[in-house]
Amino acid sequence: MTRDPASPEFWDRLFNKDITPWDAEASPPELEAWLDTHPEPGRVLIPGCGSAWEALSFDRRGWDVTALDFSPLAIDKAKDFLADNGFRGRLICDDFFAHTSEPYTLIYERAFLASFPRHLRTPWGTRIPKLLQDGGLLMGCFLINDADDPEKTLPPFALKTDELTRLLGSDFIQTCTKATTTSVKVFKGREWWQEWAYLLK
Ligand SMILES: C[S@@+](CC[C@H](N)C(=O)[O-])C[C@H]1O[C@@H](n2cnc3c(N)ncnc32)[C@H](O)[C@@H]1O
Repeated sequence: MTRDPASPEFWDRLFNKDITPWDAEASPPELEAWLDTHPEPGRVLIPGCGSAWEALSFDRRGWDVTALDFSPLAIDKAKDFLADNGFRGRLICDDFFAHTSEPYTLIYERAFLASFPRHLRTPWGTRIPKLLQDGGLLMGCFLINDADDPEKTLPPFALKTDELTRLLGSDFIQTCTKATTTSVKVFKGREWWQEWAYLLK
């Protein structure tokens, strides 16, 4: 049994045993509010989508959705739920770090960045601008906790307060940050809704 959270087998094992304490079983209210006030749909990528509740929220507002996860069992779970609800987008079993595409308008984050080992954060920060169009948005729920043990080997791996500024670089401007209102128990008090605009100079 792998204990490496950078491998799909690690996540398959958890999905197989129904050990998914991160799963909110709904889209966060912050996303629903954002979608209600931003009626212009675009192309959204949801990396590490897990059960993919948010994929349906975007789809119902007319967005062109690509939801992606490298765990085949996560994809199976999401597939059933999305098919039952008339989802029209793409659900792909793929590694985020190998994913290529036309640029997206928006990349949605929840519990993905905190799921893989810290050494993959710099590659994540390099991939994000490659996948976003100029004027695009990185947005969602980010796990932030300055007191997180840097030696821990199992997720969630919280970010430090200023880490996203460093990872994303000067082409990103934070346009919103606020504590989330409905975090699951394992993230409570450490989850922040943030929006980062990608503006090439
Ligand atoms: C903690 S779960 C979060 C799932 C979902 N975003 C949610 O909020 O319920 C992390 C997910 O990221 C997926 N994942 C981790 N590393 C990945 C990678 N490199 N490429 C694609 N998916 C990945 C895992 O398979 C898992 O489903």
